[in-house]
Amino acid sequence: MKKALALLLAACMSLALVACGGGDESTSGSTPGGSASTSQGATSATGEAKTVGISMPTQSLERWNRDGSYLDEQFQAAGYETIVTYSDNDTNRQVNDIQNMIAEGVDLLVVSAIDGEALNTVMNEAGEAGIPIIAYDRLIMNDNVSYYVSFDNYTVGTLQGQYIVETLDLANQAGPFNIELTAGDPADNNAGYFFQGAMDQLQPYIDEGKLVVVSGQTDFDAVATAAWDTQTAMERAQNILASYYADGTQVDAWLCSNDSTALGVTQAIQSDYAGANKADILITGQDGDVANLKNIKDGLQSMTVYKAVANEAVVTLDLAKAILEGATIDESLIEASGWDFDCAYDVESYSTSEGRICPSFLLVPDVVTTDNMQEKLVDTGYYTVGDDGYLVAAA
Ligand code: GAL
Repeated sequence: MKKALALLLAACMSLALVACGGGDESTSGSTPGGSASTSQGATSATGEAKTVGISMPTQSLERWNRDGSYLDEQFQAAGYETIVTYSDNDTNRQVNDIQNMIAEGVDLLVVSAIDGEALNTVMNEAGEAGIPIIAYDRLIMNDNVSYYVSFDNYTVGTLQGQYIVETLDLANQAGPFNIELTAGDPADNNAGYFFQGAMDQLQPYIDEGKLVVVSGQTDFDAVATAAWDTQTAMERAQNILASYYADGTQVDAWLCSNDSTALGVTQAIQSDYAGANKADILITGQDGDVANLKNIKDGLQSMTVYKAVANEAVVTLDLAKAILEGATIDESLIEASGWDFDCAYDVESYSTSEGRICPSFLLVPDVVTTDNMQEKLVDTGYYTVGDDGYLVAAA
């Protein structure tokens, strides 16, 4: 049932995405649709719909458009009013957007932070106003955050690292294979988990000499990409190719923490790579952005770690309902909600400050390659196949 709802919303959302195609970072307020059934707890004692403020980081990265739309649609369908903002990757703007939501008297905040360290003051203001906060996908370093909903971030990196280890058959091959590394935004709390998860798989082979990072750039700070920006990732990759691979030295694999950075690295390889194995370089990614799914189909990117953000929105809605109804929140929420996907209740992994664990609901990411794209993305209804044979973000 939940899945059917998610898929229906996905279909509506593809229209919404077309409508916001100009990419203007915006604020929208909405009232619940008349036909949806209103959930218990969606209204106040006086019968007014409760309002949920949904603060997303940016529309410039594809996934956040999907997240914002799913959250908006699902909260509305459950009878809530919503305010949705995208803050153009500008921290001051996100602070401002959230302050406006607090001033509007929202009953709950769902926030995906641009910078996990920079929302302290506004989180304190929300806390003082008694507004519960769900950190969505990216953790915020503030103890007013009530709960965290995300995918298992470390596992995302593990899957990327394992893919490289298995595809190069490092257990059996002597190598050496050449590899380069591109990580995410240091301001995003997730980025370090992705990189660490991958490096824990790769490091033993680097130590053994089977994998060689020719540029020598292995520290997170050296390989990070501010704002997960495609252009930034491309320019760094071009520099590496010019400095270390111009003589035809082959790069065999390029770890990229997500799809926007993979896109930049792929562009650099297409334009600036002199080696003979251009078509065989392993490139990882994350998110299942349509441009990257096209590259995977065309053999330019090897895999992406797919995160079903429709389900992340379902978890967020059910958690928000439980918070607003004053229900007990622990792992019993998982069974009570009847989700048809895996999600773990975790009270160990994420801290908002020293000594304060943030209770978390963590969904499970999945590897998508050209071989299982149809099964994982189309048969599940998350994407449809367009006229040109490439996938279209229907979900
Ligand atoms: C992360 C998120 C990833 C990816 C990245 C870039 O926080 O978990 O899925 O989208 O940001 O936006």
